[in-house]
Amino acid sequence: MTAFELFLYITLGLLLQVTLFAAVAFSRHWQTYQQLRERVAEFGGEEAALVPEEATPAPIKGAAWEGFREFRVARKVFEDRSRSICSFHLVPTDGKPLLDFLPGQFLTFRLDPGDGSKPVTRCYSLSDRPGLDHYRVSIKRVSPPGLSSGHFHDHVREGDILTARAPSGHFYLERGNSPVVLVAGGIGITPMLSMLNATLGNGGNREIWLFYGLRDGGEHVMKEHLEGLAREHSNFRLHVCYSRPAPTDVEGRDYHHRGHVDITLLRLTLALRPYDFYICGPRAMMETLVPALEEWGVPDPRIHYEAFGPASLAKPARQQVPEDSGPAVAVTFAKSDRTLPWDGGAGSLLEFAERHGIKVDSGCRAGGCGSCQTRIEAGEVEYLQAPDYEPEPGTCLLCVSRPKRDLVLTA
Ligand SMILES: Cc1cc2nc3c(=O)[nH]c(=O)nc-3n(C[C@H](O)[C@H](O)[C@H](O)COP(=O)(O)OP(=O)(O)OC[C@H]3O[C@@H](n4cnc5c(N)ncnc54)[C@H](O)[C@@H]3O)c2cc1C
Ligand code: FES
Repeated sequence: MTAFELFLYITLGLLLQVTLFAAVAFSRHWQTYQQLRERVAEFGGEEAALVPEEATPAPIKGAAWEGFREFRVARKVFEDRSRSICSFHLVPTDGKPLLDFLPGQFLTFRLDPGDGSKPVTRCYSLSDRPGLDHYRVSIKRVSPPGLSSGHFHDHVREGDILTARAPSGHFYLERGNSPVVLVAGGIGITPMLSMLNATLGNGGNREIWLFYGLRDGGEHVMKEHLEGLAREHSNFRLHVCYSRPAPTDVEGRDYHHRGHVDITLLRLTLALRPYDFYICGPRAMMETLVPALEEWGVPDPRIHYEAFGPASLAKPARQQVPEDSGPAVAVTFAKSDRTLPWDGGAGSLLEFAERHGIKVDSGCRAGGCGSCQTRIEAGEVEYLQAPDYEPEPGTCLLCVSRPKRDLVLTA
């Protein structure tokens, strides 16, 4: 055999290997793609995902109420070792039945500090399932001390009377049997507890995952309850992540992963399934996780999230509407004596006001609580989404509206 022939055989052999490798890789990729398509089709396909059947809210039972209703604090219970999160069990003082709610919705409280300053309005997610004889909210003491959370922790006692609006909010677990992934950061666990207890409480077999990120064992909320659910329900998978475990925290016993709940962990843990993701946590977590899920290929309608935290922090940028190309519009904040050109990039009037340093109240930032209701002195607004809370005539909800033409607001 000549040197040339040997060279030819080696080259052909190499070519054959490369071709075989490419064919195997392509066939695996194709199989995965086909499996994904079949699984998505099982759940109604991409088009159906835009208007899923299970998106229809379940009928709500019980008597709705207008304005604020009185509740007696039946129990006050600390839920973590460091006593930073406290639950309040609430029963209506009028003795009438409770209004059912959708797991994930919240109550809006109005607290009177009692020192002559104006009442404080704050939202707290319902942290247990619907259908019980009481409501439960679980509140974190924030640092530096906050007006409402501090008041709840330090001054509200069993037997006290609180006032709250009817449950509301657009962040709730959709009905159906499609698999769900709940991602909670810190106190963002509260709506997830409601979703989890509702799903597992009805004895169904819906696949449900909880990724719960927190700093260490001191603030692990309802640890025994969550571990008990994971033991009792094979359709529930619990993954707890401590970002800075204490020396007494033991991996494998107290938590599953060290670090944050991030896209790498989700991709490594979850199978290829058309999950619905429900996310609630600190702003930094939401701002990284929501776009990362989109990049991973999770369709937008399957990513649900709620922004928590201080009442004055905004939602991730995904909520903002595109630049408005209409005629120039001026917004006047009469009390602050400021007139500013509206730029559509601001999204809502609330975000616009905050960006320009104008002090306005806010709570849910989603049209559900009425905290941002502001009087319109002249002009007109349009709504970015239909609010749950009906604004009084002559007012608007800043968090879900923008100006239609020149606007003068009492703010
Ligand atoms: C829909 C919804 C559901 C919620 N559910 C829960 C729940 O289940 N449990 C729960 O504990 N909380 C929940 N919250 C948060 C809650 O409503 C309050 O925002 C929280 O308790 C803090 O209120 P506060 O009056 O105690 O603090 P505030 O007096 O409003 O101040 C909060 C803290 O943030 C700081 N702060 C205020 N403004 C800013 C700012 N612009 N930038 C940086 N820091 C700032 C303050 O210094 C203070 O430490 C929910 C919020 C929403 C919108
Ligand atoms: S902040 Fe709740 S309605 Fe606007």
